[in-house]
Amino acid sequence: MTRKWMSLTTLCLLIMVPLVAIAADGKAKKKKVKKAKMVKIRTVASVDSLMVGQQMVLGELSKKVKDDPSNPENLEMIAHLSEVLAELSNVNSVGTGKEAAYRDFSRSLRDDSLKLRDKAKTAPADAEEMLALVAQIKGNCTNCHSQFR
Ligand code: HEC
Repeated sequence: MTRKWMSLTTLCLLIMVPLVAIAADGKAKKKKVKKAKMVKIRTVASVDSLMVGQQMVLGELSKKVKDDPSNPENLEMIAHLSEVLAELSNVNSVGTGKEAAYRDFSRSLRDDSLKLRDKAKTAPADAEEMLALVAQIKGNCTNCHSQFR
């Protein structure tokens, strides 16, 4: 009789332990994929430096997009570079955001960059669509420059 209970208890434990482990693992994974949070930051770069950064990132980005888009390493890099460009523009929008039009141009650049990031992460990669987004991104540069540079 007691033996029966013992083996029942053991059986329960054998089932429960992995279940708890799976639940805990799920929680940990959820935490990991959390997006960047909105926090207030004090910007430290001049517009000039942000622009130099934007130009460098855009140059690399264009190269990668024109290169073989079926190469997963390229796609990963395109996603990273697009996100960096988006963040530079994000900073540009809050750091100098005195005029609404200026903010709108920089937010538009940020959002188009994020679209390219999403495209690079969506299989199968569409080279034409990515090229069109690069052109759209460049359009944002020109639009803002024609008014504010
Ligand atoms: C929201 C407005 C805005 C957007 C969008 C914008 N720029 Fe600019 N850019 C400026 C302003 C303002 C200046 C002049 C900065 C200065 O001289 O201090 C400038 C200057 C520059 C310069 C000259 C920097 C230097 O060496 O003095 C470069 C290069 C440049 N931008 C590249 C870009 C690129 C590339 C993009 C798009 C990916 C872009 N910009 C998007 C506002 C913008």
